[in-house]
Amino acid sequence: MRTLIISATPKTEGHSAELTAIAAEAAKRAGVEYEVLRLDELKLEACKMCGDGWGVCREKFRCAFDADGFDKVQEKLAWAEALVLITPVYWWECSESMKIFMDRVRRCEGSRMFHNLNDQSLLWQKPCVMVACAGGSGNGTLSALEQMDRFVYHCGGRFFDHIALNRWTFDHKKQAVEAAVYKMATEGGGARRV
Ligand SMILES: Cc1cc2nc3c(=O)[nH]c(=O)nc-3n(C[C@H](O)[C@H](O)[C@H](O)COP(=O)(O)O)c2cc1C
Repeated sequence: MRTLIISATPKTEGHSAELTAIAAEAAKRAGVEYEVLRLDELKLEACKMCGDGWGVCREKFRCAFDADGFDKVQEKLAWAEALVLITPVYWWECSESMKIFMDRVRRCEGSRMFHNLNDQSLLWQKPCVMVACAGGSGNGTLSALEQMDRFVYHCGGRFFDHIALNRWTFDHKKQAVEAAVYKMATEGGGARRV
């Protein structure tokens, strides 16, 4: 399956960067087409909450301010058949670049459900591996994974795996990241919930 690896670390080295490289290696080993999208390089702007809270996203499933690179993100999501979301844990949550990405994509793709067009979502039934990596206290992986899980759910994606890592579990859990991405890229599948 064409696999899009979305990484939300601002660092080029470190645990999250290593996991991004591991996910890319797994997709390569699976023999599928893959791409790595580094959200921090893209520097998407936060949602501007147009109008009374809903903008054209609710009716047209696009963002009024998509020229900041968001249109390219949507193109990549349309291309992908499977997704890997990787975030460092900041303040018990996903990093800011992952939160901005999810906020904006969800407004466009999640809004399709108001029109019974869920099956046209760019994530529709696509399997997703979600990865949260905590490096400080080790707290916050579950809430970060839950944020990503809600995003995938709202957009109609499948969850394939949730993987939480911290400083103590990194070495054995990174093998789980490799295995999950390889299996998803090769076989697809994952839980269907909407
Ligand atoms: C703003 C900020 C907030 C953070 N909050 C947490 C946290 O809530 N829990 C935690 O275990 N680590 C926290 N950390 C540490 C990161 O999770 C750590 O950098 C992460 O494991 C990613 O590792 P990496 O930076 O080597 O990729 C935080 C780091 C930053 C920069």
